[in-house]
Amino acid sequence: MEEKIRNIRKSFNNEIEKVLDNISLEEIRIKYFGKKSEVSDIQSNLKTLSDDEKKSIGALLNELKLEIGNRLNELKSKFDEELLNSKLNEDKIDVSLPGTSISDGSIHPISKVIDEVESLFVSMGYDVVDGPEVEEDRFNFEYLNIPKGHPTRDAQDSFFINEEWLLRTQTSPVQARVMQSKEEKGPIKIICPGKVYRKDNDDATHSHQFTQIEGLVIGENISMSDLKGTLEVFAKSMFGKTREIRFRPSYFPFTEPSIEVDVSCFNCDKKGCPICKNTGWIEILGAGMVHPNVLNMSGYDSNKYNGFAFGMGAERIAMLKYGIPDVRMFYTNDIRFVKQFNRIEGEFK
Ligand code: DAH
Repeated sequence: MEEKIRNIRKSFNNEIEKVLDNISLEEIRIKYFGKKSEVSDIQSNLKTLSDDEKKSIGALLNELKLEIGNRLNELKSKFDEELLNSKLNEDKIDVSLPGTSISDGSIHPISKVIDEVESLFVSMGYDVVDGPEVEEDRFNFEYLNIPKGHPTRDAQDSFFINEEWLLRTQTSPVQARVMQSKEEKGPIKIICPGKVYRKDNDDATHSHQFTQIEGLVIGENISMSDLKGTLEVFAKSMFGKTREIRFRPSYFPFTEPSIEVDVSCFNCDKKGCPICKNTGWIEILGAGMVHPNVLNMSGYDSNKYNGFAFGMGAERIAMLKYGIPDVRMFYTNDIRFVKQFNRIEGEFK
């Protein structure tokens, strides 16, 4: 048996020299330490030996097992380390190379204006409502006191789809839609942002598609001063706390009286500058008291109810607020343009 142990050691030492990786190392481990190995053979035959032999052969066998075990462990750690090092080498990152920057999105200035106007009016108890962009002639015009042949239709050169359907030229039809949809006629406070379309030739101040924000308040005993107070809050919130507003008489078929609303120039504070064309005032929206015909056509008793309405162009507000010189910039999707508005937050506060 002693001889056998010596031979095992010899052949192990021979074979282990040729082992170069963990796979062949495992084969060797099984060969020398596995259930069918010579070592386990000797182990199980120990019991057949005399007590003395058991002691001496047992000691020799333990020594061999320890030797083989140590050598196997040693090589295993060596191969593991080599493997790790080669992996680390392969995956090496050159920290001096420029990184790949992840470009972040930004909110379009028109969306920013809409968001700001919405949250202001929602804070005053208004609902935000939507209306269809493909609209019926009766909602876009007739229920707004603009019958067929009315001269105002010319000012809103329209994209007609057929006799009765068109792309809406204003967000005002939502007024009629909301009033008519009320089963029980009662108070209304809404704003309605959305796209509108007109057959305009595109240039720096005109676009065949643009964005309006409509407002409508219906109730009992609503007055022009309610309208003025509301628009004053709006102007201060959009253009700065010290802004003033003024009303100028105007004409819209769906309001009587009708007004145009100016805000004192945020750039020169009424001293006169190129932005306000030296007048000190900038026109921002149209408004008025809802025409009794509009109320009656939508099922409201104009003797009981009245209200005010206003409509503004979101592009105009954004152009003034952010100093944008050309309306086409909103639609050409130049990322360099849009990105600039990431940094602008409540700039007139
Ligand atoms: N719809 C008008 C336009 O496109 C804007 C407007 C003016 C809306 C007065 C209103 C209003 O509700 O009362 O020019």
